Amino acid sequence: MRRKSNSRDLCAHFALIAVPFASLADAPPERLSIGRAATAAELARWDIDVGPDGAGLPTGSATARDGQPVFGAKCAACHGEDGRRGRDKLAGDANDRDDKTIGSYWPYATTIFDYVRRAMPPAAPGSLTDGETFALTAYLLFLNGLIEADEVIDATTLPRVEMPARDRFVADDRRGGNEVR
Ligand code: HEC
Repeated sequence: MRRKSNSRDLCAHFALIAVPFASLADAPPERLSIGRAATAAELARWDIDVGPDGAGLPTGSATARDGQPVFGAKCAACHGEDGRRGRDKLAGDANDRDDKTIGSYWPYATTIFDYVRRAMPPAAPGSLTDGETFALTAYLLFLNGLIEADEVIDATTLPRVEMPARDRFVADDRRGGNEVR
């Protein structure tokens, strides 16, 4: 069996990789005469992740009622009016663990906002406004029976939505060695 690496090995390893990358990030790659440093505005367009606790959620709010027409116009063609069409069913019985949907399988409600804003619709990812994304998130929660049609969803209320799958996962406490459970 391989020896587990100790912290000194790890430090040596990081030192080798971290130093050249840090200096690359600071200076544009002049040696090859191609590329330039990304601007703050360009970086901001990529910096859109939303954490499980809601960190990174923008301002704005909406209800499922607001989301229904947006879903009908931009999503239903593929997912069905009720979100139950196709292989990637978005809604179903949250207690049916064999039928993996947002309601039965996603541990955090905030992931809906993050995923929809960055990835949907597939032909125009990033095209939804924050308001539309809050509305669609609320509508998907409603379709799964997790909120009421008029419940206001925003940066404060979304992280508080209790997802049935929250306790259906265990924390991954592996540390990169032989500790795999
Ligand atoms: C052109 C068809 C199409 C349209 C339009 C579309 N989707 Fe999707 N959607 C997909 C496909 C295909 C997947 C699966 C993608 C994958 O697994 O990589 C998906 C996946 C998803 C998922 C993740 C499902 C899961 O369990 O992994 C969500 C949430 C979602 N779409 C929401 C939306 C919303 C909201 C809209 C409207 C803004 C939308 N989609 C529009 C085709 C579409």
